[in-house]
Amino acid sequence: MTAVAPPILETTGLKAGYFEVNILHDVSIAVPRGAIVSVIGPNGAGKSTLLKTIYGFLKPRDGRVVYRPDGAEHDITGLRPNRVTALGLSYIPQLDNVFPNMSIQENLEMGAFLLRTGVDERLERMFELFPLLRERRRAKAGGLSGGQRQMLAMARALMSGPDLLLLDEPSAGLAPNVVDEVFDKIREINAAGISMIIVEQNARRSLAMSDYGYVLDMGRNRFEGPGERLLHDEKVVDLYLGGRGRLAAAAPSGEDYEAAERPPPPAQRRFRL
Ligand SMILES: Nc1ncnc2c1ncn2[C@@H]1O[C@H](COP(=O)(O)OP(=O)(O)OP(=O)(O)O)[C@@H](O)[C@H]1O
Ligand SMILES: [Mg+2]
Repeated sequence: MTAVAPPILETTGLKAGYFEVNILHDVSIAVPRGAIVSVIGPNGAGKSTLLKTIYGFLKPRDGRVVYRPDGAEHDITGLRPNRVTALGLSYIPQLDNVFPNMSIQENLEMGAFLLRTGVDERLERMFELFPLLRERRRAKAGGLSGGQRQMLAMARALMSGPDLLLLDEPSAGLAPNVVDEVFDKIREINAAGISMIIVEQNARRSLAMSDYGYVLDMGRNRFEGPGERLLHDEKVVDLYLGGRGRLAAAAPSGEDYEAAERPPPPAQRRFRL
């Protein structure tokens, strides 16, 4: 029997919120090494709050976040974002994810601020992965289209050489053909060995390309399972994928929470970015 590699990231019993309001009540997720994991759920469910808590913008009030990049284990609960980045975890917020007044190249260099050496090599890798950014590297990021900006935000997050990327709504506000391009690029980055958590309104598309998915509702785990299984789960479809009347009777009781077996890690990927 081969031992299953432990998840690259795990949260257990996370509680977090803003001021006196608690938003995450008890959130536990696991990201298998090399996997794409989707987090879906209604507006206000706490999806963005979960990413912010993992990345250290918000200190959890309870629970733990454990990160296991290659061969190491770090308790990153409450660690600040720059320390989290240094351990190989990058975050792409939904909004304001590029510096509009800086050039594309300067934006990318900002993404590598923690690297002492090798910035030029990483820049070259990013230009190979996103050829359009090379062509326009001296242009201001503010002049890019929505889709191009999203590509720049991804490239910037990759500049620090992460093993895990957190993406908040990468397809929000983009035209359908541009959404396709962004999703293709996400697959390509993942195929290079980078694990991902994706929060998406475009839940069907996101689950379809995910190894595993979680439904959050009102700050709690509501459903989880392999992406394909959630896509075809009657209750998930009814309640969260626009089945019969979105969100009707969606208040989580906790009793019908469906846990599933955690997935095995995907097959070994080819190379690293
Ligand atoms: N900075 C903040 N200060 C106070 N409350 C906040 C803050 N950010 C979010 N909230 C509240 O926390 C709750 C969860 O918000 P969050 O942004 O995590 O939800 P979400 O699942 O990402 O929703 P959406 O799908 O709309 O992006 C909401 O009620 C929101 O109003
Ligand atoms: Mg959000």
